[in-house]
Amino acid sequence: MKLIKCKDYNEVSAAAANITAAQIKEKPGSVLGLPTGSTPLGMYKKLIEMNKSGEIDFSPVITFNLDEYYPISADNDQSYYYFMHKNFFDHININTQNIHILNGEADDPERECGDYEAMIENAGGIDLQVLGIGQNGHIGFNEPDDFLISATHKTHLTESTVKANSRFFSSIDEVPIYALTMGVGSILKAKKIIILISGKEKAEALKQLLSGKITTKNPSTMLNMHRDVTVIADEEALELIK
Ligand code: GLP
Repeated sequence: MKLIKCKDYNEVSAAAANITAAQIKEKPGSVLGLPTGSTPLGMYKKLIEMNKSGEIDFSPVITFNLDEYYPISADNDQSYYYFMHKNFFDHININTQNIHILNGEADDPERECGDYEAMIENAGGIDLQVLGIGQNGHIGFNEPDDFLISATHKTHLTESTVKANSRFFSSIDEVPIYALTMGVGSILKAKKIIILISGKEKAEALKQLLSGKITTKNPSTMLNMHRDVTVIADEEALELIK
C-alpha cells in the first residue's frame, strides 16, 4: 500500500484530483468509482476547475457511485444522487447517460444491486475507485461486522454512522437506517484504488488500515489485499502514526 502524506485537507484534495486527472488523460473512457461525504468535496472542486480550463474532458468518462441511502428519493437534498449532481456532475461536461447511481427508490433492492454489479462488469470494470472512510473504518456503506458482504447489497447502517451522518439532516430520525452499497468484493475488483483520509476523527481508523492487519471490524483494512492502493492522508489523520 502506498501512502501519500499531506500537510492538510487542501493537499489531500489536490493529490486526489491529480491522480484522477492523470487516469482520465491516460484513458479518456475511464470508468471511475466515486464516493460522497465531505472529504471528496475539495477533490471535486479541483476536478471541476480542471474541466472548465480544458485540462480534462469528462465526456467519455463513465462513473459508478459507491452507495446510496435506502429508501430515499433522488430529489431529497440528502440523497447521494442529489449530492453528486449538486457538487460535481452539474458542473462538468459528463454525458448524463454515463452516470450510474444506485436507485434509493428501487422496488426490488436485491435486483437493483445485481443489475448494478452487472453494469459495472459490462462497462469493463472500474479503472479507478476513489474512496472516503467512515470514523469506524467503513468504506462505501460496508460497516464493521462479524462478516462482510462481497457484492453490491442492501445493508443496515450502524448507530455510529447514523449519528455521524445526522449532521447533514435536520434531525437524527430523518437519517435512513438502510443503504445500498457496493460490497467489499466489488470495491476490490477495481484496477486501482485511492482512499482520502482527513482529520483527527479518522486517525484511529487510518492507524488500523496501515497496521496491515485485516479485520471485518474495520472494513477499510480489506484494502490491504489489493495490489494498487494509495492512501492519501493529512497530518491530523496521521497523528497516531509515528
Ligand atoms: C458516508 C459514505 C462514505 C464516506 C463516509 C465518510 O457514510 N457512505 O462513503 O466515506 O460517509 O464521510 P466524510 O467524508 O463526510 O467523513
